[in-house]
Amino acid sequence: MAARVRKAVFPVAGLGTRFLPATKSVPKEMLPVVDRPLIQYAVDEALEAGIEQLIFVTGRGKVAIEDHFDVAFELETTQTNRGKPLSALKGTRLKPGDCVFVRQQEPLGLGHAIWCAREIVGNEPFAIFLPDEFMVGAPGCMKQMVDAYEQVGGNMICALEVDPSETSSYGVIDPGARNGALTEVRGLVEKPKPGTAPSNLIVAGRYILQPDVMRILETQEAGAGGEIQLTDAMARMIGTQPFHGVTFNGDRYDCGSKLGFAEANFALAMSMPDIGPKLRTFARQLIEQEAATDLAGGSVD
Ligand code: UTP
Repeated sequence: MAARVRKAVFPVAGLGTRFLPATKSVPKEMLPVVDRPLIQYAVDEALEAGIEQLIFVTGRGKVAIEDHFDVAFELETTQTNRGKPLSALKGTRLKPGDCVFVRQQEPLGLGHAIWCAREIVGNEPFAIFLPDEFMVGAPGCMKQMVDAYEQVGGNMICALEVDPSETSSYGVIDPGARNGALTEVRGLVEKPKPGTAPSNLIVAGRYILQPDVMRILETQEAGAGGEIQLTDAMARMIGTQPFHGVTFNGDRYDCGSKLGFAEANFALAMSMPDIGPKLRTFARQLIEQEAATDLAGGSVD
């Protein structure tokens, strides 16, 4: 039987340069999708999947993440004294020991960030969440992956089909046999040059890995973009251990990109009963106005 996945690593030390200037002093992971920061959704997804210890790999300028999961004494006392409920803060208080913060001192890449958590992960399988990949599903993405992991063990990555023109921005899977939601992984390539990708199946921000990957990362050389890549270290485990991609049954938004972030906010807001109907009316008006302007512009020509 596969060992239980009890720990999760959240690498949150990246610089978030695609979101400057917003991310100059605010961590990318604290940007909200409607009313909750991205990191909160990822933590909720982890807890739903049965994860017990949350390991955040942070860097300078990321203390807001630590504060977010701490007790906010002044805020909670003031709200309580005013007779206001604390329900909006649900899920934001993590117990000491249930969450651990380590620092990546230089942004040397995702693989290096994961390696920074090696002492806390120890010798057991662990999950990884990239919080800027926003996954919406019931059950959540990691719960679906844990359920699959309990059947086949080994290593698991969330697999997602994208338009072939997008593969050069991601880790790409060389797929083998398919069985339901599971696809055998025969190879992995990080950010392949256009036209060279082995498929249009990408690695989408969620992983369950065996601790052996930490030993491999120890000596992993820099790869694509001059960074120590997790994909390269995972590729070295293929053939020595089972390795599968899991197709997530749900919606995924790449909130590391402006378009994905805007889409996530729009989709989530539309689904909320208190603001969805008004937003729909607003969106319709906006589109009608744009169409009318286009038409007016067209008639001038
Ligand atoms: P990204 O490739 O999205 O990089 O990292 P980034 O720095 O966050 O954002 P951009 O591209 O500059 O806009 C993917 C994940 O890996 C983490 C990031 O925090 C993000 O969760 N990461 C990346 C680290 O923790 N350390 C690194 O050195 C690099």
